[in-house]
Amino acid sequence: MQDNKNALAKDIEIFVNEYGNDRSALLPILQSIQKKYSYISSFAQQEVARLLDIHPVEVFGVISFYSFLSSEPKGKYIIRLCKTIICDISGRAEVERAIVKATGTNFGETSKDKIFTLEYTNCLGMCDMGPAMMVNDKVYTKLTPEKVIEILTNLNR
Ligand code: FES
Repeated sequence: MQDNKNALAKDIEIFVNEYGNDRSALLPILQSIQKKYSYISSFAQQEVARLLDIHPVEVFGVISFYSFLSSEPKGKYIIRLCKTIICDISGRAEVERAIVKATGTNFGETSKDKIFTLEYTNCLGMCDMGPAMMVNDKVYTKLTPEKVIEILTNLNR
């Protein structure tokens, strides 16, 4: 555990050296931690606050504001389903049911095996090809329940 904390503290120092130690560096530093560790632990938050000489509440505030940052561990695959109106009327509800069934997880939750996290998102800019979702950085469009099952089955677990 201590080794993990040491490695994390070392990485944070590297990110701070790379982006600087003023407030404008906060977001890129947090993004880097999120990218490498999939979440920003309270230890990481304290370390960032210490190195940038700001209050940990400010760090937590930024994490809470941006949906792509998280203070909790998330699944290997973060599925973000568009909940905006055009996707809604293109059949979002049945796609959503298929995702829930295929992952055994509800939206807003992470599966017990930490493979899937299910979230809603606003418009992904693919409205004419809805329903749309993202799995990590990849966008999938024109979803149907069958297509969702195929996509999820082909993921490397
Ligand atoms: S409304 Fe879903 S991608 Fe735009």
